[in-house]
Amino acid sequence: MKIDILTLFPEMFSGVFGESILKKAQEKNAVTYNVVNFRNYSTNKHQNVDDYPYGGGAGMVLTPQPIFDAVADLTNQNEKKPRVILMCPQGERYNQKKAEELSKEDHLIFICGHYEGYDERIRQHVVTDEISIGDYVLTGGELASMVIVDSVVRLLPDVLGNEDSPIKDSHSSGLLEHPHYTRPANFRGLEVPEVLLNGNHKKIDEWRERESLRRTILRRPDLITNYELSERQKKWLKEIEKEVE
Ligand code: ADE
Repeated sequence: MKIDILTLFPEMFSGVFGESILKKAQEKNAVTYNVVNFRNYSTNKHQNVDDYPYGGGAGMVLTPQPIFDAVADLTNQNEKKPRVILMCPQGERYNQKKAEELSKEDHLIFICGHYEGYDERIRQHVVTDEISIGDYVLTGGELASMVIVDSVVRLLPDVLGNEDSPIKDSHSSGLLEHPHYTRPANFRGLEVPEVLLNGNHKKIDEWRERESLRRTILRRPDLITNYELSERQKKWLKEIEKEVE
């Protein structure tokens, strides 16, 4: 996968892309990151990238020219059209399903604004997706784009070892993940549930599925609304609801 980031603050990315799994993914050639200052594309003699809004009002607006030209330059005519993703609080709310969808693409281009709004023609003629990472306002799209890159790159083939397989993650199954325990079995009198210690994998799997359901109903009941429960999960759900009454 090729990932281009258009930003006025390229230095913000070096730490995040240069550590841990995101760094290893690039070393394994699963992904290449290309962080570009779109000011370099400005044809204005002062290399300006924003201007006052038509009609007046506070704040500046990013002009179309540098972004149109940067996206055109980064798009290879022989490839499938890249996804061009505008980071903004008005976009569709990001979730694991969207991460999975984006992880199937070959080329993503992120556009990160900072402080300013975007000229509407950027949205209409360049962008394929507008994404918000949550209902709050950041100072710019940079952090939001890093969140998306992180969640997408970890899904690429061979990026995580089998051990850390993303299949069991919270949200990828539609439920939150079950609790985890490690040694010691008794830590200052705090015991690990007996069922995890006896090596009966059928029982362990059952316990995990039930606890995953419990955690979801207690913390995120909204997720259950869209989840198709199996017969035994329905039975467990009734029991859990009685237990917490
Ligand atoms: N830019 C500013 N706030 C944002 C948000 N919540 N998501 C994505 N981009 C943003």
